[in-house]
Amino acid sequence: MAIRYEEEHRIFHLQTPKTSYIIGIMEGRYLLHLYYGKKIQSYPDFMRHLPIRKGRSWECEDVSHPDYCLGTLSTEYPCYGSGDFRSPAFHAEYEDGSAVTCLTYAGYELYRGKKPLKGLPATYVEKAQEAETLEILLRDELQGLEVVLSYTVFADFDAIIKSVRVKNAGKHSVRIKRILSSTAYVFDKDFEFVHLEGAWARERHIQKMPLINGTMSIDSKRVSSSHYHSPFLAIARPSATETQGDVYGYSLVYSGNFLAEAEVDSKDVARIQMGINPFGFQWLLEKGEEFQAPEVVLTYSANGFGEMSRTYHKLYRTRLCRGNFRDAERPVLINNWEATYFQFNEEKILDIARLAKSAGVELMVLDDGWFGKRNIDNCSLGDWFPNREKLPEGITGLANKIVDIGMQFGLWFEPEMVSEDSDLFRAHPDWCIHIKGREKTTSRNQLVLDLTRQDVRDYIVKAVSDILESAPISYVKWDMNRNITEIGSAKLPTERQQELPHRYILGIYEVLERITTAFPNVLFEGCSGGGGRFDAGMLYYYPQYWTSDDTDAIERLYIQHGTSMVMPASTMGAHVSAVPNHQVKRTTSLKTRGNVASVGQFGYELDLNTLSEDEIQTVKAQIQRYKEIREVIHQGQMYRLRSPFEGNDTAWEYVSEQKDEVVLMHCTIQAGVQRGLSQVKLEGLDPEATYREIDTGETYRGDFLMHVGLYFSNDRDYESQLMVFRKIKTVK
Ligand code: GLA
Repeated sequence: MAIRYEEEHRIFHLQTPKTSYIIGIMEGRYLLHLYYGKKIQSYPDFMRHLPIRKGRSWECEDVSHPDYCLGTLSTEYPCYGSGDFRSPAFHAEYEDGSAVTCLTYAGYELYRGKKPLKGLPATYVEKAQEAETLEILLRDELQGLEVVLSYTVFADFDAIIKSVRVKNAGKHSVRIKRILSSTAYVFDKDFEFVHLEGAWARERHIQKMPLINGTMSIDSKRVSSSHYHSPFLAIARPSATETQGDVYGYSLVYSGNFLAEAEVDSKDVARIQMGINPFGFQWLLEKGEEFQAPEVVLTYSANGFGEMSRTYHKLYRTRLCRGNFRDAERPVLINNWEATYFQFNEEKILDIARLAKSAGVELMVLDDGWFGKRNIDNCSLGDWFPNREKLPEGITGLANKIVDIGMQFGLWFEPEMVSEDSDLFRAHPDWCIHIKGREKTTSRNQLVLDLTRQDVRDYIVKAVSDILESAPISYVKWDMNRNITEIGSAKLPTERQQELPHRYILGIYEVLERITTAFPNVLFEGCSGGGGRFDAGMLYYYPQYWTSDDTDAIERLYIQHGTSMVMPASTMGAHVSAVPNHQVKRTTSLKTRGNVASVGQFGYELDLNTLSEDEIQTVKAQIQRYKEIREVIHQGQMYRLRSPFEGNDTAWEYVSEQKDEVVLMHCTIQAGVQRGLSQVKLEGLDPEATYREIDTGETYRGDFLMHVGLYFSNDRDYESQLMVFRKIKTVK
């Protein structure tokens, strides 16, 4: 059993292939987090081995155990009000005006499999035998509140999946102010707080800072996980590298306002918490109702960041992403956005498509500007009807012509938005999020539709479905280009207005669930001004995401490297665009742009008609090569061999499950004169096998590639290599 309850010691022991997570029941009342780390077989008599210091003066006494108090215990799901003055996981106001909750242990249930989370994205099982779930019941006797802590352990993944559900079993309504999804601890402070920071076109750069006594946090208040911080945190030993050292990962499967924090107390114990951001959150829970908080995926790796990421990659790729495209090869696409922006017509799109088809591209994507009177970004969002001046035969006519050329056709939408200059806004001015009497702040000239409303959600589902049914459309790019201000809904009652941020996210999840289920043969790619809502929650609906609006190959080294901390290559949209690059004006070779984009979901974002004949030949070769290696890139194990954040070059390696196919991408950032060579040692190979590099025909043994490695000179700016190795034999 992966999860067992040991009655004698009153502990729950959760075991993954390489880790143990242990929870103890103290004095029959308090649930304590005792251990998370390398797998152990038993944890006897935990009161003798408590990893925390006893309380001294100024700590409150505990009713049941004179030596300990809640203020120093590592409570598994802490509340405020009975002596624990650190940040709580849960906080609520009750009918009697009090705001103190005291949760004590009330029982558990253990079962095979994993239940879905109502209305929320979540990791899942295909067969019940894949996982076991423990549900621990906590109760506040006075208020009649029941809290269920859920823990799932998959047989094949070193991850613990935690979520929280609360039920109002009392007599009166309860106002929840804070309901985090996970609390965990590390018992000394010699760790770093590692997170992904960014901005538009500079998403997910890795940041590290030492834990110090006090609270460190990242969050979002944008009603979107955002470009700025990702709902991910690692707590890692300062000496941890890609291949060694303790690394704890916490990834929230949620796309809205979040909080991730580490609070180091006076005893140097760090409480790590994650969940929906309590800022801007409230939920009125009526008698008998339940509230489900999203799940957090915890990982522990004794072997550095690389192993942590590989656990996330495989779990998210195979048990969070869903649908027909989860395991399928995705098409090489060409998108017209940077080729034409809003200035296109049917002939122009067909022109781009014809040449792309002859180069091997499989899917033509028509981006923004095909609907209403949208020739600029200040109008028409909401009016999802083809612009007949640009497309005389509409989307149906264009899509059919693209199919006739021999390509699939894809289309851009931004369904969550409305322009003030649109028929939709004129007909339904109260459908946008706003506060009556207060000026509306626009961003990219647009407002956000109120997805807390059923009528608005139904409109979106119908508008998008009508277009999808009207033409042979195989792919949708679902964009979302602003954050939410003036939070208010014309429909929600006064006492529920503050529920809007979470209700909005539940609303978008419902819309995406309905549309993706109705169109299982359409590949959905998420987008939010690039990678603004590229989070684990969204992977449940979109198996791929536009990683960033910055398509410069060098900028992408940082963005893709940071993104790969959690996200698998199969989810990262990556395109070759024109030079000088539109975002940073840098010129890099077509080869390097192709190499960096090839290690994601590959495509082009330029008009191939502007390239020379030689360049077209290069494009053809790139596409052909990509088609040969896409399976290993998307389904293999990724190793980050050199980091752009730590040096002057980047190297990523992808190895198939059978270790018989290997792709190595190396890229120099800045050239230098008389500098040392970069020694790149491969990982994860069969040491006894012989591998042939397919371009040069040179052969190497696996142990040579792993221990001696390959040397790169870094003497040309932005020079890169994409090397493919195939196992030819194993020599014993
Ligand atoms: C966003 C997307 C881009 C493009 C434009 C269209 O910025 O990230 O890729 O689709 O919108 O307006």
